[in-house]
Amino acid sequence: MSQREQWSSKLGFILAAAGSAIGLGAIWKFPYIAGQNGGGAFFLIFILFTLFLGLPLLLAEFSIGRTAQSNAIDSYKKIAPGTQWHWIGVLGMVASFILLSFYSVVGGWIVIYLFKAITGQLNGLTSDQYGEVFGTTIADPWVSVIVQLIFILMTIVVVAKGVQQGIERASKIMMPALFVLFIVLVLRAVTLDGAGEGVRFLLLPDFSKVTPRTILEAMGQSFFTLSVGVSVMLTYSSYLPKNQSLPRSAVSIVIMNIFIVLLAGLAIFPAVFAFGLEPNAGPVLLFNVLPTIFNQLPFGMLFFIAFLILFLFAALTSAFSMLEIIVSVIAKNDPAKRTKWAWIIGIAIFIFGIPSALSYGVLSDITLFDKIIFDLADFAVSNVLLPLGCLLISIFVPLKMKKTALYEELKSGSSMKKGIFEVWFFLIRFVAPLFIIVVMLNMLGFY
Ligand code: PHE
Repeated sequence: MSQREQWSSKLGFILAAAGSAIGLGAIWKFPYIAGQNGGGAFFLIFILFTLFLGLPLLLAEFSIGRTAQSNAIDSYKKIAPGTQWHWIGVLGMVASFILLSFYSVVGGWIVIYLFKAITGQLNGLTSDQYGEVFGTTIADPWVSVIVQLIFILMTIVVVAKGVQQGIERASKIMMPALFVLFIVLVLRAVTLDGAGEGVRFLLLPDFSKVTPRTILEAMGQSFFTLSVGVSVMLTYSSYLPKNQSLPRSAVSIVIMNIFIVLLAGLAIFPAVFAFGLEPNAGPVLLFNVLPTIFNQLPFGMLFFIAFLILFLFAALTSAFSMLEIIVSVIAKNDPAKRTKWAWIIGIAIFIFGIPSALSYGVLSDITLFDKIIFDLADFAVSNVLLPLGCLLISIFVPLKMKKTALYEELKSGSSMKKGIFEVWFFLIRFVAPLFIIVVMLNMLGFY
């Protein structure tokens, strides 16, 4: 077997892992789910889940990956040979497959807007008109499937090229640029007339809006934005040399993620209230609101185009990670196989995702539990497969890995104190499984 690739720099790993984390989850999904779940209280619960469950789980995945230095399935086999635990990896691959199938639909929506913005079709409309244009565009079967294909093709091409050259390089410029543009956007949004109500909506918790459903969604959302539960982070950390700090990487990813979620919320909600829109518009929320805010800036459409390019990049770096985990299992370290399988799996995901793409148009009448196909795929991943993956990981780590070895792994390259390690171990061993089981049983209607 050829030698495993490693990240060429510590920054490369952080940027790629942060690139996987920061994507549609923080920028597109968070605002609409928070909008549907009453705003502030959801935001607070989301942050608590992120700190007390998401962060420990991220560290857990990192420690499995770097201990085993292998892919999403072999890592479990190495640590617990002769057992069935590698099914966690299989679960992660299935989840990533379904995830990319609908993620690419939204990626396609960005491509549409980019095309429309560049060709001047979005100049000077009102917010209602943006909603209309967007609604009719994504209802068009050809358009929605073609842009989905474009998004998947971009993902395949990069993953086919391999981990280092493919993913690492571009993140260094694009991510910081996205942060900067977001700050500009927030400054514009919060200074709109009537923006205050939106800021309050996001930052002042109203607990009367909290239902068990809110809690489930907040948990799913925090796992989703951190990319935990599907062994993606495990795979990425398996390329990381031992002299790098896992805790520091995990903490910086979580901080960046919360920051971008906050920026997304502070850009969207003030604008929603200032323009008299509905916060619970669902998955189209961001796409209806964004162009209206940019329209209020000098050279707005230019800024909008720049934003869309960076947003597309953020979505792509997450999409890479989903395809990467599947390809890295199947292709091992053979570059020729990698190219072939990136194409085969990428195209299979595209075909599987077509019904999701069509569910905003010709297939909009097909529903199950009151959800269109797109929402079903999202629900299955965010609220079932991710929590399940996280639950299994939180059982696997304390059960199958030695505590002393875990401490060594987490301490390697870092200065993690014993006390902090104990807190982490407690959260992973008791708090995470308990919470996930309680929330999931509730979802299944057990009490
Ligand atoms: N974290 C990504 C986002 O927020 C989504 C993702 C989930 C990516 C799980 C990989 C694995 O967009």
